[in-house]
Amino acid sequence: MADKIIEAVNTGLHGEVTIPGDKSISHRSVMFAGLCNTPVRIVNFLRAQDCMSTVKCMQSLGIDIKDNGTDIVVCGNGLHGLKEPQKIIDAGNSGTTLRLMMGILAGQKFVTTFCGDDSLSRRPMGRVILPLMQMGAQIVGRNKNTLLPITIVPQSDDLQAITYKMPMASAQVKSAVLLAGLFAKDTTTIIETYPSRDHTERMLKAFGADIEVLDNIIKIRPAEKLTAPDSIEIPGDISSAAYWLVAASIIKDSDIFIKNVGMNPTRTGIIDVLKDMGADIGLVNERTASGEPVADLHVRYAKLHGTQIEAEIIPRLVDEIPVIAVAAAVADGVTTISGAQELRVKESDRLKVIYNEFSKFTAGIVEKEDGLIITGNNTFKNASCDSCDDHRIAMSLAVAGAAGAGINIKQAQCVNISYPEFYATLDNLKK
Ligand code: S3P
Repeated sequence: MADKIIEAVNTGLHGEVTIPGDKSISHRSVMFAGLCNTPVRIVNFLRAQDCMSTVKCMQSLGIDIKDNGTDIVVCGNGLHGLKEPQKIIDAGNSGTTLRLMMGILAGQKFVTTFCGDDSLSRRPMGRVILPLMQMGAQIVGRNKNTLLPITIVPQSDDLQAITYKMPMASAQVKSAVLLAGLFAKDTTTIIETYPSRDHTERMLKAFGADIEVLDNIIKIRPAEKLTAPDSIEIPGDISSAAYWLVAASIIKDSDIFIKNVGMNPTRTGIIDVLKDMGADIGLVNERTASGEPVADLHVRYAKLHGTQIEAEIIPRLVDEIPVIAVAAAVADGVTTISGAQELRVKESDRLKVIYNEFSKFTAGIVEKEDGLIITGNNTFKNASCDSCDDHRIAMSLAVAGAAGAGINIKQAQCVNISYPEFYATLDNLKK
């Protein structure tokens, strides 16, 4: 796909959408199942490029993973059963693959080398390498051990346990240290300032790991083995649902039903913020799937107003800021987003890209070092914008185009990273 043209939607979005599997939970399911020694069936696994990077990575480490057309079946070789890969492992665009796998591999007795695409090769890896080296791991990378390519040197002894106070809110860094903690000599402790998504803690607990969470302190003890349930059901990804939550809220006459959305409280910041802006979102059919809360969401058009988004809530909506910026640009009044400097080190520098690309179809966006100030009440012009090869920017541009006067998106195919059916789903909701 070269460019993608999104038409303006004039008669609202209608109908039902079932959200594909959660990206964060899909990655973890394959990694952790691969550390068990009984087969695990993964239901509603996200077959998108990022999660396939994790599948390929685990396969390179000797894990048998099959797709039977419906589910993914992972047959691991136990906690100490990973094998030395024969080739360099390509983590593609996926920060979660690379950072969590570094935690698993830091204590192994074999060598692993990782590479990745241009975006991943620019993203900071020192934040994971530093604590892992404090645990005794030996890791070398470009630019003084901060960037890909990265090699994890074979470990002759068990890792040391550490107490690690997180310098930033990051589930990927936290998870890497916790996973390394499975292979350490003693109890590893993480202290978080603001809580980040807790899928690792929930799933490791379900797999029998000795992990304990008390407020902002997480402790994990070394494991002899992990025991998987026979199957894991992955809830729909709230970060993917976010595009429909915003689109239906800002496109007049919309009334849609979003099925199977993961409602983990460390991820629901988007719902809190949209409701605070005046959105009409109802929760129905609340339930639990494999230890994660799930619900269906009913969303109708509503007149939104501006809001303030500060550091504490950022980890609960970190991937949703680009689409929140779309909502803010049409809402009444001003929206301020602060404490969001982490956005500068995502798949693109999202604060800069939002400013550069959104300014092509709307006024009122100011870029700050750690956030954005967005003055609302805009009507979007037709424009040609670049996704900068960032999937969340592409999908947010599509929502803006649908809500405004249409848009031409360059490098539009990057939605395949997390939501391959995105454009087809938008077409269905227009009917
Ligand atoms: C993820 C954590 C988040 C998020 C990313 C997925 C995860 O990054 O942005 O898309 O699966 O752990 P942080 O490491 O900044 O929390």
